[in-house]
Amino acid sequence: MVGGRCYGIFMHSIVLLLWVCLHYVEASSGKHIIHRKVGETVELSPGLPTECVTAATWKYGGITVAGKDVGVSKKSPFKDRSELNLTDFTLTVRKLILQDSGDFIFVSDVNYEHRPAVTITLQVHEPITKQPLLKILNFSREASNKFCTVLLECSSTGNVTFNWTVGSQTQTGPRLHHIMKEEDGEITFTCTVSNHVSEKSALETIKCSKDNGMCSMIVVLNPCIFFFFFFFFFTFNHIFRDHN
Ligand SMILES: *[C@@H]1O[C@H](CO)[C@@H](O)[C@H](O)[C@H]1NC(C)=O
Ligand SMILES: *[C@@H]1O[C@H](CO)[C@@H](O)[C@H](O)[C@H]1NC(C)=O
Ligand SMILES: *[C@@H]1O[C@H](CO)[C@@H](O)[C@H](O)[C@H]1NC(C)=O
Ligand SMILES: *[C@@H]1O[C@H](CO)[C@@H](O)[C@H](O)[C@H]1NC(C)=O
Repeated sequence: MVGGRCYGIFMHSIVLLLWVCLHYVEASSGKHIIHRKVGETVELSPGLPTECVTAATWKYGGITVAGKDVGVSKKSPFKDRSELNLTDFTLTVRKLILQDSGDFIFVSDVNYEHRPAVTITLQVHEPITKQPLLKILNFSREASNKFCTVLLECSSTGNVTFNWTVGSQTQTGPRLHHIMKEEDGEITFTCTVSNHVSEKSALETIKCSKDNGMCSMIVVLNPCIFFFFFFFFFTFNHIFRDHN
């Protein structure tokens, strides 16, 4: 009878222990990634309970950059632009540069016992400032079947992802191959380049019909050409007659 109750308490403890362990694993396995622009400020928060913390340090690239007892370390690459909050151990880094990207590891003890480290990955990006360049690589017209095939290419500097939008359709990648019909009229192709902190777009309008730009220009200029022709004809005729 007594053995049974002990067994019950024992099992209960095991389950509780398992739950605590699992809970810890869950809390520590989440990999945090933070994206920031060059020049911005980041607040790196461990997100752990702050009671009874006996030791706490932030490490970056194998160096202790801040700690509970020393504050911001003199060896830290961010020593002039960082602060440590000694209440919740949030590390603030200002005026970020590309080289600040990396893993920030928070190591701490509660009642002189280690608890799982927290890793926060910081990625600092240059914002995209220029519009992407849009080029028509190939355009061919199938006169008999009244459709056109177009191959477009979008380019940009830096590490960006490409998105194309044609009407309500989207596609990723730097190149777009599209087939359009004559009756579609003008079609707008939009290329959007983006990284985690910014985006820029460029667009191109293409038409698949016989009256391309050159033709419409001649149509518009036609009355003018005739006007000039007659103007010069009559003027020269006049001068010619006067000389005689
Ligand atoms: C430190 O963090 C605590 C708790 O989040 C906050 O109340 C306090 O204002 C912070 N101190 C500073 C100097 O930012
Ligand atoms: C351009 O299109 C024509 C006709 O479809 C094709 O023969 C040619 O290979 C294409 N060129 C490129 C660079 O894709
Ligand atoms: C480019 O950006 C992607 C997504 O932001 C990232 O996963 C990749 O590591 C970057 N590559 C380089 C060479 O920076
Ligand atoms: C790019 O396209 C994908 C797929 O359609 C979409 O999930 C994503 O949000 C788009 N990104 C941008 C920056 O528009």
